[in-house]
Amino acid sequence: MNQLNKHNSSLREFLESEEDHLDTSVLGEMVNLDSIDVVLRECLTIEEMREAGSFFTGAELAATAVNLFQAPITFDSVVLDPTCGAGNLLIECSRRLGVESTLSKTLEKWGGVLWGYDIHESFVEATRLRIVIEALYRGVKKDCSIDAALAMLTHIKCGDALMVDSDELATVTHSIMNPPFTSWPSPRENYWKVGKVNAAGVIFDKYLRLLPLDCNISAILPDVLRSGSRYEGFRTFTSSQVNAQCNVWGRFNSKTDVDVFILHGNLEEDNQEEIAWHEDLGEYTALSERYDVCIGPLVAYRDPEEGESYPYFHPKNSPNWQTVTEPTEFRRFSGTVLEPPFVVIKRTSSPSDRYRASATIINLKEAVAIENHMIVIKPKSSTLRDCKKILKVLKSNQTNEFLNERIRLRHLTVTVIKDIPIEGT
Ligand SMILES: C[S@@+](CC[C@H](N)C(=O)[O-])C[C@H]1O[C@@H](n2cnc3c(N)ncnc32)[C@H](O)[C@@H]1O
Repeated sequence: MNQLNKHNSSLREFLESEEDHLDTSVLGEMVNLDSIDVVLRECLTIEEMREAGSFFTGAELAATAVNLFQAPITFDSVVLDPTCGAGNLLIECSRRLGVESTLSKTLEKWGGVLWGYDIHESFVEATRLRIVIEALYRGVKKDCSIDAALAMLTHIKCGDALMVDSDELATVTHSIMNPPFTSWPSPRENYWKVGKVNAAGVIFDKYLRLLPLDCNISAILPDVLRSGSRYEGFRTFTSSQVNAQCNVWGRFNSKTDVDVFILHGNLEEDNQEEIAWHEDLGEYTALSERYDVCIGPLVAYRDPEEGESYPYFHPKNSPNWQTVTEPTEFRRFSGTVLEPPFVVIKRTSSPSDRYRASATIINLKEAVAIENHMIVIKPKSSTLRDCKKILKVLKSNQTNEFLNERIRLRHLTVTVIKDIPIEGT
């Protein structure tokens, strides 16, 4: 990943050419935390960005994450970003530190506080250059060469965040991170899941094990770790290690369609306080008390078209908020078929949708096959009346608000549907 080299060279040329007077507005643009995303998008394709997990944190989110540290950043702090990218989070951290009169004196002090790793050399170079630029932008006098300035940032280096050991991190007081959200094979040993897992979970988990007790943490993480059904083990482990709170942020940025939250708190041995991954609603009647919920049993690409022919429903032939009484499509299927009446919900769903749980009542007089992109809600009473009742609940603002707080993924899960409050129905 050396595509940022060109950008780095232009930063360096600018710094080296204009010896005495550096244009402040140009310097400001070079450390504008929102602009580097645009630069990166000019250098890399979206596929390359996804593969590297290189989505840089914008200004507002970076400031919020830094402000959520329990203890302030001072010159006695050691602040680590284990996956620092082009340095946005570290630059924001440096903004909590004072400056000396000269560049060399400032960087001598900043260099002890700001630590970072990234697997890509050109990102590490961008981080160091941009921290030098940030100091100059803050008005310090340039009294040394750029090479000498860069050499003072010794703790910002190229390396694999997973290859670090705890001795190296013994003095870290704060850790801030926005790890990659790509899919990695599970490290398996001591891990909460086998198979492919979200890289952010792997890195965050690793640092919970490596960082010293009492370390302040502020981590920008994908919503799947907070609300995905595959990450129950991650949540249990995290709760046992860190006394923390969750702040739901929403979409990472306008160009990146993934929702994130900030987990912030302190590392504690055997933490007894369970993290509130979502709002506590107290005692209430949950949907699962009166309805059975399951995923549609038919997997279209996998299940052979053999066996009896059944009326067949999938997201495209299930009109929202209507009651279907006649079949529109048939398919042979030898798996589990379901007896109406029941309600189906489309699993694909986003916080930007008008309704999170778009639903249809299926009320045929024969068994039907339901595809697995649908969630089935079957009243325990087996009555059409209870189907109508739940349709009303699903369409309500309260349900939208509940689902938007509870799960900001682009799909719904059986667990979250079971938890929908149905009070008063
Ligand atoms: C989502 S970006 C965040 C960068 C920066 N912290 C920010 O918020 O702007 C994640 C970064 O992790 C880096 N990365 C991926 N795998 C890594 C690893 N094993 N060790 C260190 N860095 C890694 C990527 O190169 C990328 O720059």
